[in-house]
Amino acid sequence: MSNSYCVAILGATGAVGKELLELLESRNFPVSKLKLLASERSAGQKLPFRGENLLVEPVSDRAFENVDIVLASAGGSTSKTWAPIATEKGAVVIDNSSAFRMNEEVPLVVPEVNPQAAANHKGIIANPNCTTILMAVAVWPLHKIKPIKRIVAATYQSASGAGAKAMAEVQTQTSAILEGKQPTAEVFPYPLAFNLFPHNSPLTDWGYCEEEMKMVNETRKIFADQNIRITATCVRVPVLRAHSEAINLEFETPFNPDEAREILSKSPGVKLVEDWQKNYFPMPFEATGRDEVLVGRIRQDISHPCGLELWLCGDQIRKGAALNAVQIAELLVEKSLLKPTPSLVNG
Ligand code: A2P
Repeated sequence: MSNSYCVAILGATGAVGKELLELLESRNFPVSKLKLLASERSAGQKLPFRGENLLVEPVSDRAFENVDIVLASAGGSTSKTWAPIATEKGAVVIDNSSAFRMNEEVPLVVPEVNPQAAANHKGIIANPNCTTILMAVAVWPLHKIKPIKRIVAATYQSASGAGAKAMAEVQTQTSAILEGKQPTAEVFPYPLAFNLFPHNSPLTDWGYCEEEMKMVNETRKIFADQNIRITATCVRVPVLRAHSEAINLEFETPFNPDEAREILSKSPGVKLVEDWQKNYFPMPFEATGRDEVLVGRIRQDISHPCGLELWLCGDQIRKGAALNAVQIAELLVEKSLLKPTPSLVNG
């Protein structure tokens, strides 16, 4: 294997795809050739990379010839179709969709938490759900010191989680409302500007939406701990691209907030943001464009002796998606893990 790699971005024209492009360049990932793949709709578009304008190709079998790494962010059904084809051709696919996340043969990786899981890949590595990644980065350092018994999460999720069109829709709705017009909604079920609603993912029979169940099931898989009890309420808010989360943690024994603060101030991927005098804590505006998960408002839960409360914000497109995927690619390079087994999984 050479020291630089042929990389393909599947979904290059999307919000996460464009961020992947920027991160490969800014983090100086060893790219020998970059292929930009999207649907037929984008054929002919050009996107900038290292001073050149690269042509976007419609995805096809042939597009994966000689590709070492595929960074896929084009939705679950696109990944289900193309990931097995790409792995057949010898690429390792880092997949941002939910298609393979709970597949036992597919590692689900947050590099700050379970980098060792990447070594078990058989051609596909799944990038977790965005809210799950952000929570995992903030909570894992505490869980390592004292096991968490239960997590109660409430999320405040930006439009970016539903892609570039959703972000544009909120901006259009905002302008419409400010001009005194009726906002229209196409990507989201209801207008999001000046509004909020419970997460728009499909509802399960037991009343949770799929986004909430991702936080439950994916966190357990990433932490390799099926005993941890997790419940979540996920909500869409009219924020463009950073998610916020209120997290209540219950430990086996009391966890001093100052000790938690000390641990988190030294944890990878976390930035402690707290100024209690100024009532200044993480905000989506300040998390936007940053790599770290901003954590603050760490305090004793007054309703439970072993409880701790914290608040976090993280850039959904960056650490919640593209950055985590690029970090996985960096891990593969660093640990020489770019050796896929040709036969894999079909969804
Ligand atoms: P396109 O722009 O050609 O539709 P976002 O999540 O921001 O909406 O982006 C989704 C990304 O996935 C876009 O790059 C989009 O390409 C791509 N995509 C969506 N459906 C397909 C498909 N069937 N085949 C290939 N790429 C797809």
